[in-house]
Amino acid sequence: MINMSNWFLRLAVLYLIAGVGLGLYMAASNDHSMFPVHAHLNLLGWVSLALFGLFYRVVPAAAATTLAKLHFWVYVPAHFVQMVLLAMFFRGATAIEPALGAVSMIVGAAIVVFAVVVWNNTRASP
Ligand code: HEM
Ligand code: HEM
Repeated sequence: MINMSNWFLRLAVLYLIAGVGLGLYMAASNDHSMFPVHAHLNLLGWVSLALFGLFYRVVPAAAATTLAKLHFWVYVPAHFVQMVLLAMFFRGATAIEPALGAVSMIVGAAIVVFAVVVWNNTRASP
């Protein structure tokens, strides 16, 4: 079984490198056209994954649930595909917009799963 907190945190810093790398490229090239990709690599990647990882660190019982596994295995691949499609979209492949919309809905669904995990595991102690 994977350690969910560790993997969220490990993936988070990879997205930080990718997001900051793109930010530096944008700043250096003076071409900011990919800024939504930069913003969402950093925010749906680095920031969200780090918060997921820290939450599962603080509440390890939550990480053991089936819903948490669903959260990980839906969010991580869907967000990766979303970022690839978003980059392609801003590189001119506008025809992929329906697929981008569909995968974004899946990312949204994974976020709802996370919300349920948080609510289920933050009840007041008896
Ligand atoms: C060395 C690090 C970074 C560099 C060089 C950088 C560079 C940039 C550049 C050039 C833009 C486009 C600005 C514009 O055209 O208006 C931008 C936008 C943005 N960056 Fe970064 N960035 C860095 C790190 C980060 C990080 C760590 C985050 C989030 C945690 C972040 C979040 C954003 C957001 C949300 C926008 C869009 C802002 C808007 O809506 O105008 N950036 N960044
Ligand atoms: C499935 C999830 C998400 C979708 C589909 C989505 C979609 C969008 C769209 C369509 C825009 C406007 C882009 C533009 O006008 O060029 C946008 C902007 C923005 N979003 Fe998101 N978003 C998502 C999640 C998030 C999250 C979780 C955060 C913060 C933690 C965030 C922060 C921002 C910011 C700061 C901007 C303004 C910068 C930009 O335009 O790229 N988004 N988002």
